[in-house]
Amino acid sequence: MYIKEIDLQNFRNYSMQKVKLDKGINIFYGDNAQGKTNLLEAIFLCSIGKSFRTNRDRELINFNNDYSNIEISFEKKDRCGKINLRIDDKKRFLVNNVPVKKTSEIIGNIYIVLFTPDDINILKNGPSKRRRFLDIMISQLRPKYIYSLNQYNRIISQRNAYLKQIRFSDVNNNLLDIWDENLSIYGEKIHNYREEFIKKITNKINYIHGNITNKNEKIDIQYIYNFKDKKDFLDKLKYNRKLDIKTGITNAGIQREDFNVSINGKKLNLYGSQGQHRTVVLSLKISELEIIKEELEEKPILLLDDFMSELDFKRRFNLLNLMKDNQVIITCTDKEAFSKQDIKPKYFYVNNGIIK
Ligand SMILES: Nc1ncnc2c1ncn2[C@@H]1O[C@H](COP(=O)(O)OP(=O)(O)O)[C@@H](O)[C@H]1O
Ligand SMILES: [Mg+2]
Repeated sequence: MYIKEIDLQNFRNYSMQKVKLDKGINIFYGDNAQGKTNLLEAIFLCSIGKSFRTNRDRELINFNNDYSNIEISFEKKDRCGKINLRIDDKKRFLVNNVPVKKTSEIIGNIYIVLFTPDDINILKNGPSKRRRFLDIMISQLRPKYIYSLNQYNRIISQRNAYLKQIRFSDVNNNLLDIWDENLSIYGEKIHNYREEFIKKITNKINYIHGNITNKNEKIDIQYIYNFKDKKDFLDKLKYNRKLDIKTGITNAGIQREDFNVSINGKKLNLYGSQGQHRTVVLSLKISELEIIKEELEEKPILLLDDFMSELDFKRRFNLLNLMKDNQVIITCTDKEAFSKQDIKPKYFYVNNGIIK
C-alpha cells in the first residue's frame, strides 16, 4: 500500500501543508527542528491512533490554534481510502468519512513500520518499551489483540482500585474472584498472541542477524512470562492475593512480561556494546518488517526517522534493498547521504513548517 497525499492543518509547526508522496522512496531533508519528525508523527497517529512521542494530544495542536486536522489518502491493492483525524478537546477519527467509535479501531487501515534512533531503548531500558514494541506489531496484524489488551488494562485498574479499598477498609474480598476470572480470560489471550509472535521473531531474526554480522553472532530471544495459561494465571492470582492486597497492585500478569536478547549465549542488556545494541535493534526491526510483509496482503509503509545516519554504507544499502518494494518515507539532515545509492527518490525540503 502507499500514501498518496497528506494534508495537515495546525498540526505541530505546520499551519496549512499538503504533500503528494511518491509510491517509492520519499526523502524529507532539512535542518534540525524544522518539522520532519512531525510529519512522520502525523502518519503514525493515523495508523496506530497514538503518537510515538507524546500521550498529551494538546501538544500536537499548533501553539497558536485550538484544533488540528490531518487527512491522509492512501491506495491499497483493490481500493482507495482516506483517514481524517480532528484533534481539539478530543481526538476523532473518520475512515472514509465514517466516524470510528474507539481510537483503537483505527488500526489496520494504514500499515506501517517505524524506525527511529529511539528504538535503541527497546533493548536498553526497562521492559515497557519491549512490550510496546510487541503490542504495536501484534495489534496491526491481529485486530483482536488491541481489544483484549484494552479490556485487560481496564480490568486491572479496577482490580487495583479494589485492592486498595480492601487494604484501607475491611471490605469483603470475594469480589476479587470476579476480577480474577475476567483478567485471566484476557490475560491468556494476550499471552498466546505474544508467544506466537516471539516465536515468529525467533524464526526470522537468526538469519537476519547472521547476515548483518557476517555470521559472527548467534542471537537468541527468550520470552519472559509468569503464567502459561488461564488456569496457571488464576493460581498465581490466588497465591499472590495477600501480597496484592498489601501492595495495592496486581503482581502477576501480562503487565510484567518481557523478552530477553542474548548474543552468543550472553545477555545483551548486561554485556552488549553500543554497537551490538544498534545491530540487534536493526535485526529486530527488520524481523518485524518481514513478519508484517509475510502476514499481510499489503506491503507496509516504512517510516525511517533519522535512522539511516546511524548506519554505515553497507547496512544502509542492505536495508534499502530490503525495502525496495515498499513505500519508504525517510527523514534526514543530509540528503547527500543517499546520492551514491542506486535509488531514485522524491526529495522534499523541510524548512520551518513548510515543505517544498
Ligand atoms: N504544538 C506545536 N506548535 C508549534 N510548533 C511545534 C509544536 N510542537 C512542536 N513544535 C515545533 O516543531 C519543531 C520540531 O519539529 P520536528 O519535526 O521534531 O523537527 P525535525 O525536523 O528535527 O524532525 C520544533 O521547532 C518545535 O518547536
Ligand atoms: Mg526529527
